[in-house]
Amino acid sequence: MTPDSTHSPDPQTEDSPLDHADAQGRVAVQDLPAPYSGPAPRDALAELFIQDGYSNDDPRLWVPLAPGRWSRPLCLNVSNGYWVHLTKVVGGGMLSRHRHPAPVHGFVIKGKWRYLERDWIAEAGSYLYEPPGDIHTLVVEPDCEEMITLFHNSGALIYCDEDGNTTGTTDVFDRVDACRKHFIEVGLGEDFVKQFIR
Ligand SMILES: [Fe+2]
Repeated sequence: MTPDSTHSPDPQTEDSPLDHADAQGRVAVQDLPAPYSGPAPRDALAELFIQDGYSNDDPRLWVPLAPGRWSRPLCLNVSNGYWVHLTKVVGGGMLSRHRHPAPVHGFVIKGKWRYLERDWIAEAGSYLYEPPGDIHTLVVEPDCEEMITLFHNSGALIYCDEDGNTTGTTDVFDRVDACRKHFIEVGLGEDFVKQFIR
């Protein structure tokens, strides 16, 4: 079909860079389409890009949560009520028993950890989905030199006792406050946290 002024181009027949790919699937630079520069939604927010999310170059980016435990913010999403961050534990530690009211996604980057309530061990490369209602206690054994895991938390962490009664909570607004306080203390200033907020 040849597109005309009354029809949108058919993606099935439109010329594709893959038409120019060699046997290994590579496309020469001159065959790539021009970068998109057309209209965009006027109310869209800026993207958030972090080149190197877990280097040790600047320890000021890691917000201390407890002795031997830190959180590095990646995206603090106050408009959708979630936060994406890296959890780091050095020399073993524990994240207190808690319940989730909304889904969590996790991906282990380095080291290993487990939940007291499960019989599996999460290690580098492991992915985890925690459904709403899940209650668990995260443990990093002392023989784990350094653990780093990316977590996408929605809603809140609801800390609870052994009967499931709520003992405390934390949400994305608490995370923003904690980051802002830390960044002020280490000299990065109160506005430093804004780059992570959407
Ligand atoms: Fe959790």
